Amino acid sequence: MTAYHRRVRSGCAVAEDTIVVSGFRQGLAFALATLAQQGIQRIALEDPGPREHDIIARRAGMDAVPVPVDDDGIDVGRLRETGARAVLLTPAHQCPTGVALGPSRRRDLVAWADEVDGVILEDDYDAEFRYDRQPVGSLQGLTPARVIALGSVSKTIAPAIRLGWVLAPARFVAGIVEEKRLSSRGAPGLDQEALALLMESGRFDRHLRRVREIYRARRDVLAAEAERAFGPGRLHGLAAGCHALLRLPDGTSEHAVVAAAATMGVRVNGLGMYRFMETSPLPPALVLGFGNVTENQIRRGIRILAKAASE
Ligand SMILES: Cc1ncc(COP(=O)(O)O)c(C=O)c1O
Repeated sequence: MTAYHRRVRSGCAVAEDTIVVSGFRQGLAFALATLAQQGIQRIALEDPGPREHDIIARRAGMDAVPVPVDDDGIDVGRLRETGARAVLLTPAHQCPTGVALGPSRRRDLVAWADEVDGVILEDDYDAEFRYDRQPVGSLQGLTPARVIALGSVSKTIAPAIRLGWVLAPARFVAGIVEEKRLSSRGAPGLDQEALALLMESGRFDRHLRRVREIYRARRDVLAAEAERAFGPGRLHGLAAGCHALLRLPDGTSEHAVVAAAATMGVRVNGLGMYRFMETSPLPPALVLGFGNVTENQIRRGIRILAKAASE
């Protein structure tokens, strides 16, 4: 996993820094518990951002504060104001807006971490899927002493595999290993062997090349259908990953569209579901995942969403 991260994500961790865990979430819980034990009491989370991380942070004994995200990713100025010494973010493809953390923001973030003796937790959840933009390297490769990088095969193979990794600066490794030992004694060994074989033999790379083309085709269908049904410029965050953000016309009730679509068999989340505390108003929008739907289901789904939005 370390070699894979070095090669594919421009990381620079070594095997001694790598802890294999049962998926990103478990790694996050272990990392946060370790930070809390080392006196880091407050973590900043992206707003909007992945769901339930505030709950996981509180369970680890930390106070979670939101920081707004704009078209360049997390607002580092606002991050500074929170007084947090840790931040969790999705820099390669922000969840759920789909933006990438811009180059100057990456530099600002590293400067912030140095200023506050801080830690950046990098959720690298769907970085392997890029379509028409340059690869965005991991923050771990940029500032390894400040970053805990968390990865998993939930997006690349399947969430049911429950395997992931934490690449941590040396000062956190023993704490994370102890959390793992106390909670589970280890991640499944046979599954790790199988994944190592896939990665070392090149079959994991072949699999990624194949599924990237499948997702690219679904993404293209989604873009075309959304433009036909909702007009141009409404779909955002399409350069990477397995989800996009559909901006609804101003004044539309996001909640009503989500509820109407559900009665017609289409389940989507509104952007509002990705907030645990509001830092600023957000436009009505839907988060559309295309990782587990066929092209025909996308066509049908968009027709239903357009109907739900017009009711
Ligand atoms: C933002 C985000 N991070 C990470 C993950 C992966 O989590 P896990 O490895 O625990 O399945 C997901 C879901 O797949 C996700 O949506």
